[in-house]
Amino acid sequence: MVGVRNGFAGLIMDEMAVLGQRDVGGIIQQGGTFLGSSRCPELRTEEGRRQAIDSLSRQSIDALVVIGGNGSQTGANALSEMGVPIVGIGSTIDNDLVGADMTIGVDTALNIALEAIDRLKVTASSHHRAFLVEVMGRECGYLALVAAITGGAEAVVLPGTPFDPDELAQSLHDCYDLGKRHALVVVAEGAEWNGRRLVSHFKQHHARLGFDLRLTTLGHVQRGGSPDSFDRLLGSRLGAAAIERLAVGEDGVLLGLVEGRIAVTALSDVAGKFRPLDPSLIELAEVLAR
Ligand code: F6P
Repeated sequence: MVGVRNGFAGLIMDEMAVLGQRDVGGIIQQGGTFLGSSRCPELRTEEGRRQAIDSLSRQSIDALVVIGGNGSQTGANALSEMGVPIVGIGSTIDNDLVGADMTIGVDTALNIALEAIDRLKVTASSHHRAFLVEVMGRECGYLALVAAITGGAEAVVLPGTPFDPDELAQSLHDCYDLGKRHALVVVAEGAEWNGRRLVSHFKQHHARLGFDLRLTTLGHVQRGGSPDSFDRLLGSRLGAAAIERLAVGEDGVLLGLVEGRIAVTALSDVAGKFRPLDPSLIELAEVLAR
């Protein structure tokens, strides 16, 4: 077993080292990745992919396990189409991968967002203030949606869904009329009306809307947590399954958790696609916010 440092960039640069059993001992509680990760635009080029394949043959590596989200699995598919035996493992906090209900990291990132929301609610109640919490997740909005439901938010602002800031102001006024002591709104970073835009709109129209919004942007804090038990189990199951699949000669696939089981999906069905939000969760968030 060989570990590739810094993702595809390390693969192209031949940054690899043998991974023995003790090299991966005692790390299950660590967040992030001890191997390192990177964005690698070179892999989008034919030349970059050729370099990656050359590195693999120089090191006599016969199969690759690619752990990552959309960009990584799209790269994995491109290499697989050039003949590299590859199994992908869904790992991204965005949870937008086709072929996986839950990817590695989502649950931990959600728990971090929830802890922040619970704390902000304490401050919001004490000061009778309206708070915005912006969470990561690109244009997907899964983290924002689930953090809003499980954090008891008064509203959620998602990418790609119709939104009117004046209606938000009205519904926050309604919260106070109902006797609530706080109003908390979760915003997805990829929403057209993201945190900064909303804050500046409320400031600009303060006289008409009646209050300001305080913004907390969680950003990369969400990615730094120690993995929770769900993610540790998921990572362990998917890692073992990847080796089992390769051992029986199955490749060109992504492994992901679907309805509690490890499902196998062709990488070509995953590459470049995004899993949409479950409309029933959007409806639930709206009902519970009332
Ligand atoms: O895809 C994972 C993710 O954390 C997104 O939620 C976020 O938009 C992006 O990566 C941040 O990327 P970077 O760390 O390169 O700024």
